Amino acid sequence: MSDRIHSLGGYFHEYQKSVQDPENFWARIADSFHWQKRWDKVLDWNFEGPDVKWFVNGKLNITENILERHLFTHGDKPAIIWEPNDPNEIHVTLTYKQLHEKVCQFANAMKAQGVGKGDRVIIYIPMVPEAAIAMLACARIGAVHSVVFAGFSATSLSDRIIDCQAKMVITSDGNFRGNKQIPVKAVVDEALTTSDTIEKVIVLKRTGQEVTMNEGVDIWWHDAIEGVSTHNIAEVMDSEDLLFILYTSGSTGKPKGVVHTCGGYMIYTSYSFKNVFQYDQGDVYWCTADVGWITGHSYIVYGPLLAGATSVMFEGVPTYPDPGRFWAICDKHKVNQFYTAPTAIRALQAFGTEPVEPYSLESLKVIGSVGEPINEEAWHWYHDHVGKGRCPLVDTWWQTETGGILISPLAGITPTKPAYATLPLPGVQLTIVDNEGNELKGNSVQGNLCIKFPWPSMLRTTYGDHERCKQTYFSSFPGYYFTGDGVKRDEDGYYRILGRVDDVINVSGHRMGTAEVENAINEHPKVVESAVVGYPHDIKGQGIYAYVICDMEGRSEESLQAEIKQTVTKIIGPIARPDKIQIVPGLPKTRSGKIMRRILRKIASGEVDSLGDTSTLLNPDIVEAIKTGAGL
Ligand code: WT7
Repeated sequence: MSDRIHSLGGYFHEYQKSVQDPENFWARIADSFHWQKRWDKVLDWNFEGPDVKWFVNGKLNITENILERHLFTHGDKPAIIWEPNDPNEIHVTLTYKQLHEKVCQFANAMKAQGVGKGDRVIIYIPMVPEAAIAMLACARIGAVHSVVFAGFSATSLSDRIIDCQAKMVITSDGNFRGNKQIPVKAVVDEALTTSDTIEKVIVLKRTGQEVTMNEGVDIWWHDAIEGVSTHNIAEVMDSEDLLFILYTSGSTGKPKGVVHTCGGYMIYTSYSFKNVFQYDQGDVYWCTADVGWITGHSYIVYGPLLAGATSVMFEGVPTYPDPGRFWAICDKHKVNQFYTAPTAIRALQAFGTEPVEPYSLESLKVIGSVGEPINEEAWHWYHDHVGKGRCPLVDTWWQTETGGILISPLAGITPTKPAYATLPLPGVQLTIVDNEGNELKGNSVQGNLCIKFPWPSMLRTTYGDHERCKQTYFSSFPGYYFTGDGVKRDEDGYYRILGRVDDVINVSGHRMGTAEVENAINEHPKVVESAVVGYPHDIKGQGIYAYVICDMEGRSEESLQAEIKQTVTKIIGPIARPDKIQIVPGLPKTRSGKIMRRILRKIASGEVDSLGDTSTLLNPDIVEAIKTGAGL
């Protein structure tokens, strides 16, 4: 395939071309896709607006590039292999031909339920093949999907429905996860009591648990497709029409809807997939992410399927029925490329090598990591015991906003270095700036990671609030896209991501705004004020540490801590539940009333020797009290 890089020299050559003449570089790659009408201009952009358009006036449908484009060459090849939670339940294989039929049929069913081009559809469903079918059916008819991770609470779901004014929800009765059966439809029911734009809810029967079906609103998936045709003509989409919205947390306010559009996202996810993982036709690729996150969008569904790959989807968890499950699945389906998160590696590492040893893992060619910095210890464990020292480990850095992988080794082509994401992909123009916005040139520098030039899968806006997009990403360092990450470029020019420099914490690879967690904590009636910081956590990478001022009258610390955790679970979901809650008499503040998070972060990490000067605080005595309370 013309867009696949095969050598280190080839990488440098392609990189050079992509910087010297980006438009021709991307046009050549885009030419191998099916366009209903070719674009007039490859790129129009400025980062002041920001206003970025790729493949201007091009017309396409991404599902034609996933389905029709592959039908003749490999219609009978598995597109999706679905592995259920219970290892004794039979797995499901959908070929490209079968996927085509199912997507077309469900697309027709959605239309029959009143959804059309431009309408927003919420997908709140566990890891079942229908999740991918629903996403592709939306793309087929031009509806904009917004997948909400099925672990989010009714309040979070309702906030997202309201923000994007969604018309339909696609969900399931329940969810099998490990030895648990979790209600899903019931959460939707609750979310619909506080939002009023949803006209129809399509419900997949997965667990068979009891649900209430509301007359005129709810319809079973199997009833919705009953007798519906499997022929469907794909909607004509403009390159810059919305493909999907995905909500993600930031340092302020409620989660924002990151917007991705059709043309550029298609080109970049496919290109990056093929090159990072060095996918060969016939390989079986498995990414363990959930479709509720960007990794699931770009590297379970769109990237692999655009490349005509076989993509494994797993419903369960790494430790069920035992901590060898991942490796059992790799051997069972002869997985060639395996892509997971450092938090999963660390959790499995804690069980020792015994659960890995029974499995040969001989099919593996490439292993990958995503979501958070991978510490050297986990890197080596993964490399030695899973990759058996013979598989390149690709540490892939990217974000919901970037749509695809921007910094990563190309497996077996460019060098790896433990804990380093290494080098940018072709087309990605990185820069490091200091806090004043001065570009730091040369090697051996450290600062804020920015990007100077557009890449095809970058976010276009934050839904319904373009100003917020500008403020968040394009204002800190004018002229650049700011990632929010700190980075080091070492003496050899390799990039190492150091973690967030803003008030965002990364818990098990999930992004959490400290302000968002504080707002949830503050909903508890006894809470006066709170401050949330991240602290190093052996398995999660970062844990959530909450300092809370409470009205303690007649209450014990333990009961309040438990109630506060419950409040957060109810408002955001279990992933945001604080790991530690310390009830404090006050919070350290500057004279202007700003909470000194730097001090709180140090105390949470147990680094009390380096607190720095606290004498300028409004209330310096509080620091001692908090330290004592923390047992330090
Ligand atoms: C943030 C983005 C990318 C999909 C999953 C997370 C951190 C991501 C790495 C990596 C170090 C990483 C960054 C980034 N991050 N990948 N390989 N090494 N840090 O997507 O929820 O949008 O979070 O995750 O801090 O900004 P996300």
